Amino acid sequence: MKTSIKKLPGVKWAAGKLLGRYVIPTASIELERLSDDELLSLMRHETHRIEKALYNNLLITKQKLFEEKRDRLGRIFRILQERSLSPEEPTVAWARRVHDGFDSLREKFIEPGSTPPPAFDPEAAGPFIQFLEARRSVRVWADNQPDQDTLKNIAGEMIDAAREAPNSGNRQAGRFRILQTPKEKELLAKLKEHHCVTAPLLIFVGMDRRLYGAMGKEERCVYIDAGAAIMQMILLAHRCGLGTCWNHLGDDLINSREENKKIYRRFSEMMDIPSYITPVAVIALGRAAFIPPRPGRMEHDSVMLPPPRNNR
Ligand SMILES: Cc1cc2nc3c(=O)[nH]c(=O)nc-3n(C[C@H](O)[C@H](O)[C@H](O)COP(=O)(O)O)c2cc1C
Repeated sequence: MKTSIKKLPGVKWAAGKLLGRYVIPTASIELERLSDDELLSLMRHETHRIEKALYNNLLITKQKLFEEKRDRLGRIFRILQERSLSPEEPTVAWARRVHDGFDSLREKFIEPGSTPPPAFDPEAAGPFIQFLEARRSVRVWADNQPDQDTLKNIAGEMIDAAREAPNSGNRQAGRFRILQTPKEKELLAKLKEHHCVTAPLLIFVGMDRRLYGAMGKEERCVYIDAGAAIMQMILLAHRCGLGTCWNHLGDDLINSREENKKIYRRFSEMMDIPSYITPVAVIALGRAAFIPPRPGRMEHDSVMLPPPRNNR
């Protein structure tokens, strides 16, 4: 299989050792040279792989591979300790539980932490779709807005909703910044539409690309992870009776004109957004002046692929 792999500085990747499209770092990975953020992301990803291997019965069939992962976790914990990173940090504590319970994960980790599934309720689908249908992208804001502190609290809860989103390898790469002052919002004028500048509050959403390790720039999950997080944010705001508009801020837009590059450069300087953060979107938030008509949605049958040829 041909896969383009961008090397992280300080990391020796095992050439050609691929499982599907994922690169399996060997023991030669120079953990000490990773930044704290990269190390924690690798810790989460390795822990996640061990955890899901149990559900897929791989811990026994690929025992040696997962023992290596457990040992790598042990080395990561030692480095974190040397760097005085808190073992209380929730993802470190979670990784430790998986590491320490490795020999009997089912009894020591899964069973004590799991809960029974909820009641099956197919009737819940209808009202949920109605809730989704009532959400619209809002670009005209009401004159009477909640005060900025209230909006900021909701924005914080939207970020909490994003933290709960599914994300590839449990890397948790989403990074956020709340923009409230006219001066901050004005920084995006001419790059984004007027409704962003006039929005009562904006949330910048970016992804820490360093956390995707060996796949680097080729990693598609960067944007998919961001989209999953943004969707949760938007639905939380909708549930609270606030309007949102998801506004694209990808590098395709930024790099499409010299002027755009300049605006984003100034924005990231003024807002202290590091260069390893890949910009994805700005979410506009506020009370809607009105809910716009629902844009035409394709019918159910139109979005279904035709049945496979040999089934027709
Ligand atoms: C990835 C993405 C990028 C978007 N970018 C913009 C944008 O830059 N400006 C804008 O006004 N709306 C933007 N939108 C909102 C879409 O235009 C909107 O969701 C779509 O027209 C459907 O309307 P609805 O959200 O009211 O259902 C974006 C939506 C998504 C998912």
